[in-house]
Amino acid sequence: MLIKHAEIVLKNSVKVADLRVEQGRIARIGKDLRPKRDERVIEAEGLTVFPGLIDIHVHLREPGFERKEDIASGCRAAVKGGFTQICCMPNTEPVADNKVVISYIKNRAKEVNLCKVRPIGAITKGQKGEDLAPIGGMKAAGAVAISEDGKSVENSKLMANAMQYAADFGLKCLCHCEDASLVGGGVVNEGYFSTLTGLKGSLRAAEDIMIAREICLAESLNLPVHICHVSTYSGVQLIREAKARGVKVTAETCPHYFTLTDSAIQNFDTDTKVNPPLREEKDRLAVIEGLKDGTIDCIASDHAPHHRDDKNVEYDLAAFGISGLETSFALSYTQLVKGGALSLCGLAEKMSASPAAILSLEGGSLEEGAAADLTIVDLNEEWTVDPETFVSKGKNTPFKGRKLFGKVKYTVVDGEIKYEEER
Ligand code: DOR
Ligand code: ZN
Ligand code: ZN
Repeated sequence: MLIKHAEIVLKNSVKVADLRVEQGRIARIGKDLRPKRDERVIEAEGLTVFPGLIDIHVHLREPGFERKEDIASGCRAAVKGGFTQICCMPNTEPVADNKVVISYIKNRAKEVNLCKVRPIGAITKGQKGEDLAPIGGMKAAGAVAISEDGKSVENSKLMANAMQYAADFGLKCLCHCEDASLVGGGVVNEGYFSTLTGLKGSLRAAEDIMIAREICLAESLNLPVHICHVSTYSGVQLIREAKARGVKVTAETCPHYFTLTDSAIQNFDTDTKVNPPLREEKDRLAVIEGLKDGTIDCIASDHAPHHRDDKNVEYDLAAFGISGLETSFALSYTQLVKGGALSLCGLAEKMSASPAAILSLEGGSLEEGAAADLTIVDLNEEWTVDPETFVSKGKNTPFKGRKLFGKVKYTVVDGEIKYEEER
């Protein structure tokens, strides 16, 4: 395959060139490459080629919650969103806390054969917070990290042990930071809009205390730790200071935290209900600042698809989560690049190179010899978010009707076109 006249996003520059794919790898990037016989030519003038996007935080829901999503529908949503590689969280039923479930996910993803799927194992058995899951066995079966996502491991000693064991097996803990006692049933950020709506609020401190604990553990043990979905200005500051001291902490945020604030909850749209909750403008701005100065290493969608029945109920009862795979790139491009916070290279770093580096995954840059994982987009095309066109089973998005820039045209995995926009 030969991609002609594309704008190519390299590590430190963007240049217009041709890109040849041979045997699943990037064979050449250069000017005026001539098509070979039988080579498929993609005329990509006006299009931009990114290194295949990588999302290290998605929920595929299978096994157990297939009415929300399954591995096939989730992978279709991933490639439609431009993702060539995704890591899926273990809060399934049964929980992915052993090698059998990890192997099942890997095998099913191989059958689906769209994007690369890297499972994340649970930290504790059944995510009950009592006994460590068999980390070595999960690693041997293909787990790329461990996480208790959906909650924190309350017991600090158990968390310290988890970090130690994970490190012994070359894995990181991905930490959902939430002090359950402080959240105390809160469903939105505590502030003006929780008061206005009467919805129960949850303090920033509920997130910050756990971010601080994970940093303290990582610092004391001199081990790496990754903080999931940072949403507070104070959490950004904790991570910034820890990094300055040399703590091996990395962090992600999600498009909803740099795009929306809690003012979006006013109409009681349960699609705005997410955990951690949408915060305030000063948090949103601090998250962007954190992305700019490198405090926040990467962008993940926290794709959390839910069935209509889980959302079409009173706000208090609705499930937490946003279906994010099909809007993550366009939201990030529109908010951060069009908004002036990041360059195209900067965006590629946050959505490909850095997620690959955090979990030691393959991919992350466009280089001759690398796997041909490519995301080809039209950055100038404006489109309107319509959940009814989502291929994810989860139509739950607070971005319905929003106009965004950046449309995925092709997603290429190991040199094969896995998604091509219908025209
Ligand atoms: O909003 C969320 N949804 N936050 C989480 O931590 C879990 C996730 C889910 O699994 O639905
Ligand atoms: Zn989470
Ligand atoms: Zn999550």
